[in-house]
Amino acid sequence: MSLLKNKKVIVGVSGGIAAYKSTFLVRLLIKAGAEVKVILTPGAEEFVTPLTLSTLSKNPVYSTFADEEKTWFNHVDIGLWADFMIIAPVTANTLAKLVSGHADNFLLTSYLSAKCPVYLAPAMDLDMYQHPSTQANLNLLQQRGNQIIPAESGELASGLAGQGRMAEPENIIRFIENDLSSKLPLRNKKILITAGPTYEAIDPVRFIGNHSSGKMGYQLAQRALNLGANVVLVSGPTSQKLDHNHLDLIQVTSATQMLDACQKHFSEADVFIASAAVSDYRPKNIATQKIKKSDTEIQIELVKNPDILFEMGLQKTNQVLIGFALETNNEIENAKKKLQKKNLDFIVLNSLQDQGAGFQKDTNRIQIIDQQNNIDSYPLKSKKEVAEDIFDVLLKKMKL
Ligand code: PMT
Repeated sequence: MSLLKNKKVIVGVSGGIAAYKSTFLVRLLIKAGAEVKVILTPGAEEFVTPLTLSTLSKNPVYSTFADEEKTWFNHVDIGLWADFMIIAPVTANTLAKLVSGHADNFLLTSYLSAKCPVYLAPAMDLDMYQHPSTQANLNLLQQRGNQIIPAESGELASGLAGQGRMAEPENIIRFIENDLSSKLPLRNKKILITAGPTYEAIDPVRFIGNHSSGKMGYQLAQRALNLGANVVLVSGPTSQKLDHNHLDLIQVTSATQMLDACQKHFSEADVFIASAAVSDYRPKNIATQKIKKSDTEIQIELVKNPDILFEMGLQKTNQVLIGFALETNNEIENAKKKLQKKNLDFIVLNSLQDQGAGFQKDTNRIQIIDQQNNIDSYPLKSKKEVAEDIFDVLLKKMKL
């Protein structure tokens, strides 16, 4: 999934022949899942039409301060709406205006109102590009926090060849994705997560299991990936799906298989989160053939399963350990005991007493208890938001 998915992007276009390339840029952004609003300078309208760009961006295009009915467009709102802004192409003239703080068109006023990161992709003839004024303007804008996407070399509209062509739209997208990825807080961190139930075989057709759907664990994995982590997700049987370049999905069935997978990855992990509902017991013997129905009662002897989280707590060196506690009574007391016994940094308590919390649901209600016995209570939220809350606490409390 592209880092551009669901990002709100302003594409500013100023008046140069490279303006035609902004149509490809908008298309690539939309394809990557971004929401795009385009602003044209008056000069840009000479090169590319608002109709083309509004069709591609699926949004109205701004080029004036008001529409035909004299309704004013709010440049402050649009500036604040954006997650980031790209001005591509940015001409020598617009560069100079950005430096001096001119505000005589809608793009310039939006730039001045924007609080988001701004990327500038210059395009002009080679001598204009090399001119000390242009270079000084680029340096100044960079010093002020704008990101410059350098012009590329090649044939120019003047017939000359050299540096001045606007970076190709694919390269602009790559530049921005790399920049966004370098700022993600869990970049280069390895997060090991358990999710879902375990199934403990009784015979070839039956097992001891539980109601865990894996939803909570998969949302945690998705959040970790969104924050830039490399994720190892050790998952019991579930219908949940997740696919990502930075995801290693290990599918297991039983608690012993889950433990084996965790053992392999724990020493290299920075964080371990145990959200799986692991069966505490398994049948001592697994029948090789289906157990036949008879008129008498049968007994199944159970032996204890390993406690995966407890084992990881014993092996803990620098890892941050987060456990879950699923309780039905004496919730806080039981969760605090698990926090200590399993050597955790914090524990996420969810109670089956709470409507909408626990197994299967798309929602959960949690309390987070840390080593100092501080308790943060959260309202009922979607499991996606719960995962965001858990990672917010992780990032705030832990020095990763
Ligand atoms: O999957 P969903 O349908 O979305 O439901 C989510 C959930 C309710 C399963 C999840 O939010 C949750 O509470 N997971 C932990 C369930 C559980 O087994 O809790 P526990 O209190 O029994 O275990 C305490 C902790 O030890 C847990 O982190 C558990 O993963 C871990 N554990 C328990 C037993 C065991 N043998 N090995 C373990 O690692």
